[in-house]
Amino acid sequence: MFTPCSFSVALPALKAGEILRLACGADDVPAGASRAIAVVRPEDLPANALPVGTVLGAESGALLKIEGRAFWPGWERALFLARVLADISSGVRILKTARTGCALAVVTLSDKGFAGLREDESGPALVDMVRKALPLCHERRFLLPDEPARLRALVLELAGQGYDLVISTGGTGLSPRDLTPEALIPILDRRLPGFEQVMMAASLEKTPRAVLSRALAGTVGETLLFALPGSRRAALENLEVVLEAVPHALEKLGGDMSDCGRK
Ligand code: MTE
Repeated sequence: MFTPCSFSVALPALKAGEILRLACGADDVPAGASRAIAVVRPEDLPANALPVGTVLGAESGALLKIEGRAFWPGWERALFLARVLADISSGVRILKTARTGCALAVVTLSDKGFAGLREDESGPALVDMVRKALPLCHERRFLLPDEPARLRALVLELAGQGYDLVISTGGTGLSPRDLTPEALIPILDRRLPGFEQVMMAASLEKTPRAVLSRALAGTVGETLLFALPGSRRAALENLEVVLEAVPHALEKLGGDMSDCGRK
């Protein structure tokens, strides 16, 4: 669950569009870091305070947006990668965090796509469909070969970064390298059979071949995950029937305890 906070930090001079590395630690900037880095004291930063999509604002308006994290050599904690939203002069600022909307990651699994032999049509189309249905605070696409260990590691990393919705496309079928369910089932905290059944029922209306798909839905921490078939058409036909319930699923996953009865 996102908890807003505020902290003071000494910022270097930054230009809009640059990436600031926001380190968390008691010491000064990590050794070897040259510029575009600032350090936040750990006591100022509650756990999970900076999920992707978090905007950091000062009195003058929004200054930074968290877009990822990285590990600096020799530095014990992850650095947050923050997009600079407006030109900033150097100086100490009090930054307040805010977050609205959903952070979306779409992961395309395709050996041919990864090798540059096929254009990824499904990833952009899925982002487009979600963008039209939900307010997004951040979106990002990834391209992987059909390798279960890499998919599993990426999804765990994305959940750790605070993505609300992760959608994979590809690898749900029966060819030898279609191993998306094998990669993901072990890391799911909860399967969501309702979503899976809706996708299968709707897909069978479109084609009897849908029976080959092992499309998945589940949760990893507070992240909602869908693993969809690989073709653009199949991916969209699956996603369109679950999207309506996604906002409510995310509310519940984020800790909303209110009663759900319909009036
Ligand atoms: N589901 C829908 N809605 N529409 C489709 O065209 N194609 C099927 C199935 N599910 C399809 C579908 C086919 S032909 C296959 S082989 C499986 O998804 C698995 O696809 P994947 O291996 O690309 O994940």
